[in-house]
Amino acid sequence: MRTAVVTGAGSGLGRAIAAELIERGYRVHVTDVDAGAADRAAAELGDEARGSALDVRDEAACRGLAESIGRTDSLDLWVNNAGVFFSGVPWEQSAERRQTMLDVNVSGLMNGTIAALGPMRAAGRGHVVNVVSLAGIVAAPGEVAYSATKHAAMAFTSAPSSTSAAAASRASSSPPSARTGSGRRCSKTSSTTPTRLLPSPAAC
Ligand SMILES: NC(=O)c1ccc[n+]([C@@H]2O[C@H](COP(=O)([O-])OP(=O)(O)OC[C@H]3O[C@@H](n4cnc5c(N)ncnc54)[C@H](O)[C@@H]3O)[C@@H](O)[C@H]2O)c1
Repeated sequence: MRTAVVTGAGSGLGRAIAAELIERGYRVHVTDVDAGAADRAAAELGDEARGSALDVRDEAACRGLAESIGRTDSLDLWVNNAGVFFSGVPWEQSAERRQTMLDVNVSGLMNGTIAALGPMRAAGRGHVVNVVSLAGIVAAPGEVAYSATKHAAMAFTSAPSSTSAAAASRASSSPPSARTGSGRRCSKTSSTTPTRLLPSPAAC
């Protein structure tokens, strides 16, 4: 059975991605900084869901989860979905809010990607999907700091093709689509279709 990790899967888009992956035959680690939300979502999603606490800002915890899965199963897919959004012009936003967006949306996504690449490199296969946003392509007025974090996420996903090649894995970024717990709505029609795909030599 293929194994996937979804971050920020206690609610919203992450939970929907986890449900879809189970539907497609994956065993899914439903992770979230909110342990209760992760456990509740996993219980609702059934036997192939495993709920656990994971704060993506914690690099060691991301590595620990990836390595523990890699010891017993193949880690086939890691979805960096966890993200936080605060609207507003940057001069009216607190430094704490800007930092939280940077920590979760950028460092958290890097932590998850690098953690997943450990077992994926060892196995010579795997796929990392980074949930970004249209704000990662166009810096929307009123979402400037958030857009900056999503632009960084896009760059991290698309620039280091050598990383993907070295890992014999693939990395994709995807603007999401579904109406989710946050109440925001995106314009794309598919939540899991990658808009950029970096094929590795192994995939060619
Ligand atoms: N909903 C939209 O319309 C929309 C639009 C563009 C991009 N996105 C992106 O899609 C992703 C999911 O968004 P959503 O709308 O489902 O959000 P959401 O707020 O409904 O869910 C986000 C989840 O991430 C978790 N989370 C927050 N900080 C975390 C951390 N440090 N570690 C682990 N988990 C953490 C939250 O507990 C929550 O369960 C985000 O990356 C977001 O930026 C969403």
